[in-house]
Amino acid sequence: MIETEIKTIDESKQGQAIEDLTPVVNNNSRKAYIESYGCQMNFSDSEIVASILKKDGYQITTNLHEADMIFVNTCSIREKAEQTVRKRLSNFNQIKKNKPELIIGVLGCMAERLKSKLLDEEKLVDLVVGPDAYRDIPNLVGEVDGGRKAVNVILSKEETYGDINPVRLGGNGVTAFVSITRGCDNMCTFCVVPFTRGRERSRDPQTIVEEVKELAERGYKEITLLGQNVDSYLWYGGGLKKEYENLTEEEKASSVSFAQLMEMVAKVDSNVRIRFSTSHPKDMTDDVLHVMAKYDNICNYIHLPFQSGNSRVLELMNRGYTREWYLNRIAAIKRIIPDCAVSADIIAGFCSETEEEHQDTLSLMEEVKYHFSYMFKYSERPNTLAQRKYEDDIPEETKQRRLAEIIALQQIHSHEQLKKDIGKTYEVLVEGTSKKSKDELYGRNTHNSVVVFPKENYKPGDYVMVKVLDCTSATLKGEAIA
Ligand code: 5AD
Ligand code: SF4
Repeated sequence: MIETEIKTIDESKQGQAIEDLTPVVNNNSRKAYIESYGCQMNFSDSEIVASILKKDGYQITTNLHEADMIFVNTCSIREKAEQTVRKRLSNFNQIKKNKPELIIGVLGCMAERLKSKLLDEEKLVDLVVGPDAYRDIPNLVGEVDGGRKAVNVILSKEETYGDINPVRLGGNGVTAFVSITRGCDNMCTFCVVPFTRGRERSRDPQTIVEEVKELAERGYKEITLLGQNVDSYLWYGGGLKKEYENLTEEEKASSVSFAQLMEMVAKVDSNVRIRFSTSHPKDMTDDVLHVMAKYDNICNYIHLPFQSGNSRVLELMNRGYTREWYLNRIAAIKRIIPDCAVSADIIAGFCSETEEEHQDTLSLMEEVKYHFSYMFKYSERPNTLAQRKYEDDIPEETKQRRLAEIIALQQIHSHEQLKKDIGKTYEVLVEGTSKKSKDELYGRNTHNSVVVFPKENYKPGDYVMVKVLDCTSATLKGEAIA
């Protein structure tokens, strides 16, 4: 998928209201409408919020106009994402004019970043709740009922929502996300996430395995393990992120790394496929790759952002690796899992990036030939290290042109990669009916490539062997084989 602004699982899901698939228990309760923006983690967090609200007797609705409370789960990663959310908040305030009792709340990354602005200056919202304070929502709603504005944006060193079983919202009943870490300690200089989501914490592996088991029992067939940097997952009994070398001997003995966690999850049910996102080139070990190679139900697909193909720019970005290191990781993937698809995140026009350095990004793309990428213009974010230390000095037209070159090259590579699949047969997990034709189904193969094929008698949740007959630059087309 090629996408230039908001990174998401599916562009069409941005801003969509989420639907609760579980039966209504209490018809008299107040109704909450939740809209989500941004990354997969945000969508996953909305499911935690829904679970907390339902436990407190609220219903979840997709109908904005019957809602008593509107929650927007927001994204701060690029300026454009914030602007989109602000526009939505203004729309909601129009509705509130005729319905003064309506509660409007901002959740997630923007909450943390813009609390006083949204509440006091612009008076756009009644409630502001940061990513670690969702358990407090019922109390905060109580405050608002009492006529006060309410805010909790405290970032926690412990909160992982490990014990909350998320309500699955608006999904297809086939694929689900499970968070394994929260926050991020990496401090890439362009990124707001360490400030909006706080310190990195790993979740207890037993709670992760339990959640996966429960999803498998309910018929889910694909689980994506989520974290800002899944490779730095390390459980040693709890608390904040620590490096393995700094653990006591006792902690080391009972610790669980990402490779070990993935193995535990893969063993839950061989009929459930496992994916994960996002990998970090500085932390991705060969152990992880060997576990992927060992288990058929772990998909051959890695999202490994490189951001820039130039080592000087990578250093300015504080990414913790060089071009050579990154390419060494790609070589390890190809050696250990020869048939593995790789995707990337790329930033065009970071502070002081020269034309030659931009060419290094294009040449790295040529070397790797990604199946697809999420591509962005650098967007300066307030209070990040880059904003404090460097000048955002690449003119807008130059950023735009460099991004366009990156997108054009990616399109060629995506098409080339998919063309290689023509004639091959893949196991496809069916996710739903194709948007273009009700006689066709769509699903994904191990590479995360979308495959469309005639429906026959197949249905969502089926694994179907599909022979690829044709492709566009984004989709494989084929037919089921017996
Ligand atoms: N400007 C542009 N892109 C950014 N990303 C994160 N912060 C910024 C920013 N300030 C991109 C990175 C990251 C992805 C989630 O979003 O590529 O991997
Ligand atoms: Fe942001 Fe870097 Fe952490 Fe990713 S790894 S969330 S880009 S700081």
